Amino acid sequence: MVFVLKIFLDTANLDSIKKYNDMGLVDGITTNPTLLSKENSGDPEEIMGEIVRLVHGPVSLEVISTEYEGMLGEGRRLSKFGKNVVVKIPMLPEGLKAVRTLHNEGIKTNVTLIFSANQALLAAKSGASYVSPFIGRLDDVGQVGMDVVRDTVAIFKNYSFDCEVLVASVRHPLHVIEAGKIGAGVVTLPPEVLGKMMSHPLTDIGLARFLEDWKKTKSSQKVTVSR
Ligand code: E4P
Repeated sequence: MVFVLKIFLDTANLDSIKKYNDMGLVDGITTNPTLLSKENSGDPEEIMGEIVRLVHGPVSLEVISTEYEGMLGEGRRLSKFGKNVVVKIPMLPEGLKAVRTLHNEGIKTNVTLIFSANQALLAAKSGASYVSPFIGRLDDVGQVGMDVVRDTVAIFKNYSFDCEVLVASVRHPLHVIEAGKIGAGVVTLPPEVLGKMMSHPLTDIGLARFLEDWKKTKSSQKVTVSR
């Protein structure tokens, strides 16, 4: 079996999804109510449906309810958007109950708003397919978010949980390098972070120099006829 660090895009923006999907970089998508609220141009339900159609990999769609029956109903409805839907459930006691029921029905879940390895452990035991530690938000309050990822990956390695650690709330490319070194299964990236990972000033300088030097060669003087 080949292990790769999967890259999900953390966005509901269709243009960004198409752009990076065309480069073969999008293994999946995570959305949340905040991300959907930023897409003023369309009905959130339609946007979610379009994302599920565009991307072959897992697409996390989040429930709004915070009690068991509501989460269950929403989860079942969202799962009908497509086979690749993963229902995003908040880390709440009622949420874990919903995770267990959905798991028994064959519906995958991603437990979101994880801020400790113990929360991740419990979500995995309930039957979540993904746990999402929010590392950037921990960094924001003076805790090292990546420590939660490190501990969770170490715990999962000791046992046979069928659950992936999905590193969320990623703020910069160094977070991705750290997640890769730890061996997390997935990182979900805002499109801007993926863009930053791709570029380097020395690449731009190097290319400009190559093109400039090419103009000095004989080949550059040749007239090319295109039909
Ligand atoms: C993950 O699934 C969340 O959508 C996301 O990573 C939250 O990130 P933020 O802390 O930048 O809002």
